[in-house]
Amino acid sequence: MTHLFDPITLRGVTLANRIGVSPMCMYCADGDGKPTDWHLAHLLQRAIGGAGLVMAEATAVTAEGRITPGDLGLWEDDQIPAHARLARAIAHVGAVPGIQIGHAGRKGSREAGWLDAPAEPSWQTRSASGLPQGHFVPPRAMREEEVAEIPSLFAAAARRAVEAGYRLIELHGAHGYLLHQFLSPVSNRRTDRWGGDFAGRTRLTLEVVKAVRAAVPQEMPLALRVSHTDWIEGGWSTEETVELARLVKALGMDLVDVSSGGIDPALQKIPVGPGYQVPGAAAVRQGAGIATAAVGLITEPEQAQAIVTEGKADMVLLARAVLRDPYWPARAAATLGRVEAVKAPPQYERGWSGIAKFGMRLETGKPMPGR
Ligand SMILES: Cc1cc2nc3c(=O)[nH]c(=O)nc-3n(C[C@H](O)[C@H](O)[C@H](O)COP(=O)(O)O)c2cc1C
Repeated sequence: MTHLFDPITLRGVTLANRIGVSPMCMYCADGDGKPTDWHLAHLLQRAIGGAGLVMAEATAVTAEGRITPGDLGLWEDDQIPAHARLARAIAHVGAVPGIQIGHAGRKGSREAGWLDAPAEPSWQTRSASGLPQGHFVPPRAMREEEVAEIPSLFAAAARRAVEAGYRLIELHGAHGYLLHQFLSPVSNRRTDRWGGDFAGRTRLTLEVVKAVRAAVPQEMPLALRVSHTDWIEGGWSTEETVELARLVKALGMDLVDVSSGGIDPALQKIPVGPGYQVPGAAAVRQGAGIATAAVGLITEPEQAQAIVTEGKADMVLLARAVLRDPYWPARAAATLGRVEAVKAPPQYERGWSGIAKFGMRLETGKPMPGR
């Protein structure tokens, strides 16, 4: 039976265990899309905590494709060295550095979430159709030739990600961002070849997958994050996701990261609860025969372990649980009887067994070993 702390190999890359740090926007790049000291501290800390994969946040493939001016970017070569610093640091402590690349489409031109304001200065966003969403500025529908340029932007960003040293690239096709805006009939009302039926709405995502696969080395694993359902009557559905997963598998996709929702918060009705997106991951895994990652309210070691051992997904991604506790993987290894699976960095070795066993010696007041 597969264990949460068994390694997993995706193409030419082996993760030490099946726990990944899910991409999380920090909205504090330097204004030119370059990572800062914050990103280094945030991601390195979580890599030390023992996750097999640590993914950098949604990183824009073009400046216009940012959610906020504080988003990370990989739209020009100048941005590579600062990303290389992150990838190097994550790899140095034994985790695989990954990155999510994406385009916000109509969900752009805002300030950071905690400011809740339009970007200053704002910019014209573009989407599948000219339909606005919530508080975002109304987009304009892309012309056909503008849509056709998007795959090459993803491919160029992926090439830069490889150069920076990331070893897994995830394409952001979820949460109501650009690729999802094309996939979903809620946001895509086009009548040209980029819209209409399933083939039209999935065309952009498939073209992006083809372009990225061709741009990166053979051994580089690719993941696609999808919203398996819009949770809206008549919206993008789990059945369509399974069909899309079959198609991307044939194009060389290695992992589908199964999330949900985000195309229209006003219309969606999400049955939020522990592991509420796991059935989507299981449906894709079973229906398309492709490896999946489950994500969303996975908070307990036994819960994560059950998802993997019961074959619902090949790995789990955690966001808020590892924000609360960067050492979640180390603690989970202890809880699940695999304490040796998460090695301490030598700098921490003396305190590590304490961390893993839920009571650092310093916390319990016991003397440090050797003192
Ligand atoms: C601070 C924060 C930032 C996030 N940014 C991203 C992002 O950049 N890309 C993405 O696909 N999801 C993003 N998400 C969603 C998470 O990756 C994850 O799918 C979601 O939080 C559910 O997992 P959880 O219940 O473990 O938090 C973000 C979540 C949080 C909490």
